[in-house]
Order: sequence, then structure tokens, then C-alpha cells
Amino acid sequence: MTSREQWSAVDDYLVETAIRPDPASDRTRAATHEAGLPPIEVSSGQGKLMGLIAELAGARAVLEFGTLGGYSTQWFAAAVGPGGTVTTLEYEPRHAEVARANLDAAGLGDRVQIRVGAALDTVQELIDSGAGPFDVVFIDADKANNANYLDAALKLSRPGTVIIGDNVVRGGRVLDASGAGTDAEDVAGIRAYLQRQGDDPRLDGTVLQTVSGKGWDGFALAIVRDVEPAVAGAE
Ligand SMILES: C[S@@+](CC[C@H](N)C(=O)[O-])C[C@H]1O[C@@H](n2cnc3c(N)ncnc32)[C@H](O)[C@@H]1O
Repeated sequence: MTSREQWSAVDDYLVETAIRPDPASDRTRAATHEAGLPPIEVSSGQGKLMGLIAELAGARAVLEFGTLGGYSTQWFAAAVGPGGTVTTLEYEPRHAEVARANLDAAGLGDRVQIRVGAALDTVQELIDSGAGPFDVVFIDADKANNANYLDAALKLSRPGTVIIGDNVVRGGRVLDASGAGTDAEDVAGIRAYLQRQGDDPRLDGTVLQTVSGKGWDGFALAIVRDVEPAVAGAE
């Protein structure tokens, strides 16, 4: 077996034994693929992890960048419980349509607001309208804009908000600072995001590398310690 096949087989084993299959999210994954959307949603294990993180954080309001067919959205919607909300930002109307159908079919649609448009615009609308603070933010849209999304997320946070950024290792391409690779803009966006997480004293985070059937990747996890920007020269 190649490494990827082994990682996939281990993932399947872990879902069957320790994680437990989740038929409702499996249905959303299958319907997303059947609708012809790209199979780029998070793994079952990561979806479950994000639901658990939201529960551990006592989240009632989640903000997501990048909806696709609503797979990760569904984990968050289940975690926030009745009365909780998930606001998810998606550029492609077709993706939003598939997500809406999936979330409604799962009985969770009334907790989810899907905002269609470029996330830089729709998140600015949220900021301008005084939305937030959100308890958990998941950043999983176009990676080139990741540092901008992190800045926006901080404006919609409170101390204690959890911010998760996906696909930050990219098969090791995160090390490529040359700007020459096939996904150079995404790598640059991820590198700026990770640097910001490390440099900004308002954020305290870690990064975990992962392997799965989708290959070698990783996600960043940070908690917001403070929402006020540091003042240069202050004691
Ligand atoms: C990796 S997929 C999201 C997967 C989803 N979070 C999950 O795990 O189920 C990224 C999504 O971001 C959307 N996207 C790309 N550029 C965007 C932008 N500028 N604004 C909002 N969404 C964007 C894509 O259309 C795609 O649906």
C-alpha cells in the first residue's frame, strides 16, 4: 500500500472503532459529491474534532469561511445546539445551494445563515453591521486571503474565541517561500497567516500536521487572548 492508502485505511478503522460513523454527516458528504462539487471537505475525524472543539468552547455562534456543500458547517451546526447559529461565507452560489439543501435535510438549516459572495466583502458586511462576537471561527476558503480573513476574524472575536485555519501544511509546500509553486498564492497566504498567528500577541496558538486519505496537511488552532491591537511603544 502507498502511504496515502494506508492513511485512508487507518482513518476508516478509526471512524469504525473510536470515532463512530455519523450517518447524517456521511449523507451530506455523499450528496455533496453527487452534486458534482469538489471532494475537498474536511475528513470525518477533523469534522468531529471541530464539533468537539465548538462544544468544549461552549460555542453558540460560529463563523465559517468556505461552505462548499455544508459538511463542516453541519458539524458546527450540530455542536451549537438549538438556539445556536452558524454563519458561513461562500463565493459560489451553486455550492451555497447544495449546502442549503444538505443542511435542511439534516434538520439543521434553521441554525445556519449562508452569505453568498466574496468572503472579504461578506465578512466586512458582518463587521459593519456589528455582528459577533463569534465563539469559534473556521477559516477554509481561498487560502490566498487567509491573513485577511484572520484580521477580519479578530474584529469579530472576544477573548476566548477559537480560530481554526485549515490546510496550512499542503504536503509540505508551506516551506516554499519562493512563490514559484503551482499554488504559490495559496502558500503565500498560508505563510502570512501562520506568521500573523505567531507574531500577534492577541493570538496564542499551535499547528498540528495531519495525514489522511487526502494526504499530508495540517491545521492551525489559536485562542484569542485579547482583542485590542498592541500599541507600539506601550509598556
Ligand atoms: C475547502 S472548501 C470548504 C470546505 C468546507 N469548509 C468543508 O470542510 O466542508 C472551500 C470553499 O471556499 C469557497 N471559496 C473560494 N473562494 C472564496 C471566496 N473568495 N469567498 C468565499 N468563499 C470562497 C469555495 O467555493 C469552496 O466552496
